[in-house]
Amino acid sequence: MTKPLRVALAGLGTVGGGVIRLIGANGALIARRAGRPIEIVAISARDRAKDRGVDISRFEWVDDTNALAHHEDADVVVELVGGSDGPALALARATLANGKSLVTANKAMLAHHGLELARAAEAAKVALKFEAAVAGGIPVIKGLREGAAANEIARVYGILNGTCNFILTKMEEEGRDFAEVLAEAQALGFAEADPSFDIDGVDAAHKLSILASLAFGTRPAFADVATDGIRHLLAADIAEAAALGYRIRLLGIAEDNAGGLFQRVHPHLVPTSHPLAHVTGATNAVVAEGNFVGRLLFQGAGAGDGPTASAVVADLIDIARGEFGPAYAMPVDALATPTPADTGERRGRAYVRFTVADKVGVLAEIAAAMRDAGVSIESLMQRGAMADGTVLVAIVTHEGPERSVAQALEKLRGSQSLAGQPMWMHILA
Ligand SMILES: NC(=O)c1ccc[n+]([C@@H]2O[C@H](COP(=O)([O-])OP(=O)(O)OC[C@H]3O[C@@H](n4cnc5c(N)ncnc54)[C@H](OP(=O)(O)O)[C@@H]3O)[C@@H](O)[C@H]2O)c1
Repeated sequence: MTKPLRVALAGLGTVGGGVIRLIGANGALIARRAGRPIEIVAISARDRAKDRGVDISRFEWVDDTNALAHHEDADVVVELVGGSDGPALALARATLANGKSLVTANKAMLAHHGLELARAAEAAKVALKFEAAVAGGIPVIKGLREGAAANEIARVYGILNGTCNFILTKMEEEGRDFAEVLAEAQALGFAEADPSFDIDGVDAAHKLSILASLAFGTRPAFADVATDGIRHLLAADIAEAAALGYRIRLLGIAEDNAGGLFQRVHPHLVPTSHPLAHVTGATNAVVAEGNFVGRLLFQGAGAGDGPTASAVVADLIDIARGEFGPAYAMPVDALATPTPADTGERRGRAYVRFTVADKVGVLAEIAAAMRDAGVSIESLMQRGAMADGTVLVAIVTHEGPERSVAQALEKLRGSQSLAGQPMWMHILA
């Protein structure tokens, strides 16, 4: 067998620990598949003394994580520290500048600096690989970069955040409100102590910007992802959606057409006939629509030590085989610079929920605002008084431009009849 691929591993937390365990358990099989062994030669994290539940005594410990980029025995650095900037970015830059390949699971860093890193990898003729950065263990990066590479892709979308899907599924199954379920998810370790990146859609937006770039051959454009999360959802929204034949899912959706690049993370009503409506718990799923292959559905565990390590080591196997390829499926200079789409022009159906004062004339006021903005109402439901005495009004619109719904809501802004911000969700077509 030829000489091993030698790995320097930065970050020994959930994913880093998983990588050590996986290579320990499946090393022989991996060596047969890769054509040579994959060996960890050096490791680094913050706290050398921490018990990691895995034997690290056989690896060389390096105090200065950044020094891994220059480690003379390492062919490739695996960055599993996390964070868009700081030590992760410094290590990534130094690794590529030093002519070593880089594997990372860091979607935040890629969303902000992916293009720069891809350029650096190209210049150094080394690999930049990030299968674990989107949808954990699901091989969706490979799926788009390789399996679907012959297709023009019109749309890529999916459930990109397991924490949100776990919360939504619990709310759905148990009829409970968001805050209560979030607290339980935190206690179970499914949600971070500071959950805002997950529940406000930022994490999904990071991943969507990576998927969009791969799917459409455009430069990553994270700043253009319109992002909203699930913190304003009520149990009543889920019940209304169910009565109408939908489930609510936080979806990241990207489309590229003559109108420009559209990227949005937003809670959607998904028809129960659609496979994404049946993705439950912390599972992730991604749909890509290719012009020859048709609809592809990738589904599986979007996080966790085992699945994420599986994706990291798959990248290492590629590198061991000498399969580098451009990070975004084509050279950086071939990526188009996207123009953000005007969302006002998008047509679709919408669900709009109002929490209103229980008084005469409120429904007429809402209906008039909708009529004046040219929104055609398909159905309107009013539910009896909530605990605080307010009433819930939920409207489903006929298909129409998003601009009209926005105008209607603008007209109602500040109305004394509304007890809170309306909740506007798009209906997946
Ligand atoms: N967890 C998942 O399921 C998952 C899924 C997909 C992608 N990812 C991505 O994978 C990456 C790692 O995630 P994780 O969940 O494994 O994180 P984690 O459990 O918090 O582990 C982070 C590791 O980085 C080390 N570290 C933190 N700051 C450091 C610094 N300044 N210098 C050196 N080392 C430092 C920590 O050291 P100590 O242990 O000594 O404190 C720890 O070992 C992130 O980019 C994350 O977004 C994670």
